[in-house]
Amino acid sequence: MTEKQNQETADQKLVGLLAQFEDPGSLVRACNEARESGYNKIDAYSPFPVHGIDPALGIPRTILPFFVLIIGLTGCAVGLGMQYYANAGDWSPLFPGYNFMISGKPFFSLPANIPVTFEIVILSSAIATFLGMWALNRLPRLANPLHRISRFKRVTNDKFFLLIETKDPQFKREETESQLSQWGASVVEEVNEDLTDQQLPSWLQLAGLMTALILLIPPVLIFRAEGMTSRKPRLHVVPDMDWQEKYKTQTLAPNLGDEQHPNFLFVDGRAMQEPIPGTIARGDLYTDSEYFRGIKSGTESFATISTAGVHTGLQDAAHQDDSHQDEAAKDKPAEPAKDDPAAAPEPDWVTQFPANVHVNQALLERGQRRFNIYCSVCHGYAGNGDGLVNARAMALAASGQAQWTAAKSLNDPETKKNPVGRIFDTISNGRGTMGPYKSQIPVEDRWAIVAYVRALQGTGIKPTTMTKAVEKAVAE
Ligand code: HEC
Repeated sequence: MTEKQNQETADQKLVGLLAQFEDPGSLVRACNEARESGYNKIDAYSPFPVHGIDPALGIPRTILPFFVLIIGLTGCAVGLGMQYYANAGDWSPLFPGYNFMISGKPFFSLPANIPVTFEIVILSSAIATFLGMWALNRLPRLANPLHRISRFKRVTNDKFFLLIETKDPQFKREETESQLSQWGASVVEEVNEDLTDQQLPSWLQLAGLMTALILLIPPVLIFRAEGMTSRKPRLHVVPDMDWQEKYKTQTLAPNLGDEQHPNFLFVDGRAMQEPIPGTIARGDLYTDSEYFRGIKSGTESFATISTAGVHTGLQDAAHQDDSHQDEAAKDKPAEPAKDDPAAAPEPDWVTQFPANVHVNQALLERGQRRFNIYCSVCHGYAGNGDGLVNARAMALAASGQAQWTAAKSLNDPETKKNPVGRIFDTISNGRGTMGPYKSQIPVEDRWAIVAYVRALQGTGIKPTTMTKAVEKAVAE
């Protein structure tokens, strides 16, 4: 770039007078004089920090902290307000917000909302500080006219300068110049600004515009794609292990007519074969009906017992012809229809604990612990049907917000009459609206719970660990 002239011409404008000083002391003195003469658009330049220059120039405290404070407080209000709106908002019909009930907790609680608020305050304050600093310093600036003055280059070496801007109301070309010489300036020079300096070169403007336009292409493409339907699978950027060389159990090969699907493992097009009828997996032979079902042995067919709880998973329509359905129905005589108890006869429940269940202290205590874990939430620790979940659900039901069947009191005279086999079955398969616990609680533990339920029903057996409160509640 060619060195431009520092002269006031048609496209040059006088922006100030620059005075050169030879030592920091005379710079500070001149600054003081200038300030006292009423100049305020002045600035000093030196190769190193000069003590006392700030007060000499009369530089006021920066307003940046107040600016940041205001932005920070605004951020605080926005952060809290946003969360209030999203969780507990109930301002006006125009701006209603959302009431989110989560586990019965209060809609709005200050401590829970502090982290987000804090983060927003910090973020907005940091951005305000950064941008505020730029704005207050009038940055970014494309060019500074001082750089045109060759003398000024020594400001980083051994010379000191004072600039009085033409913007200053006190500024008068001749008068200011003579004042500066009077205050000890060795040289006073005009500072002229080239009006074209503050404009971006046209090639840069063009490049900026082009970049902005190019940057618009990806978002435009994304928005366009979002508004369109496509038959292609979506882009899978990180596949992880989503596609593997494997067959899912019981996947059916695509129907290719007579042609055998080349990839399938078996001729019938399946990825896995059905179990051979009559086979029983290890550990799945539930012959002891009393122990595994709570039903007197001899009253159940072998097929029912042996397949109890075995889910073959072969549910595709091809195998559900009529004969199979008949068989299935025949296989489940012990499963009473849930909605209509009269539809199926009550099985012959065992009334005594099966021979291999030894009711002793260890079993009762095990049962107590399992009961407290699984059952007390609804039935209460003493089995009176007053557990916490039940209490909450009843409260919700009372105000019409939920539907709930009260958990039975195990001390209800009718319930007390239930034989142990039926209690075992209730735990295993559920009853009425109570869900099954077969998959959570192993058979031994189910019997332990039955024993403890019996203890709660005040039948004389009781674990030594029974708390006084529970004991009292049982006695009542
Ligand atoms: C989610 C709540 C809930 C839990 C947990 C629960 N129950 Fe129940 N229970 C009920 C309800 C509700 C009923 C009444 C069902 C009905 O009559 O529709 C009931 C009924 C019963 C009955 C009486 C059944 C009958 O023969 O009429 C027994 C016995 C019983 N529960 C035992 C237990 C045991 C033991 C556990 C722990 C393994 C347990 N419950 C866990 C809700 C629960």
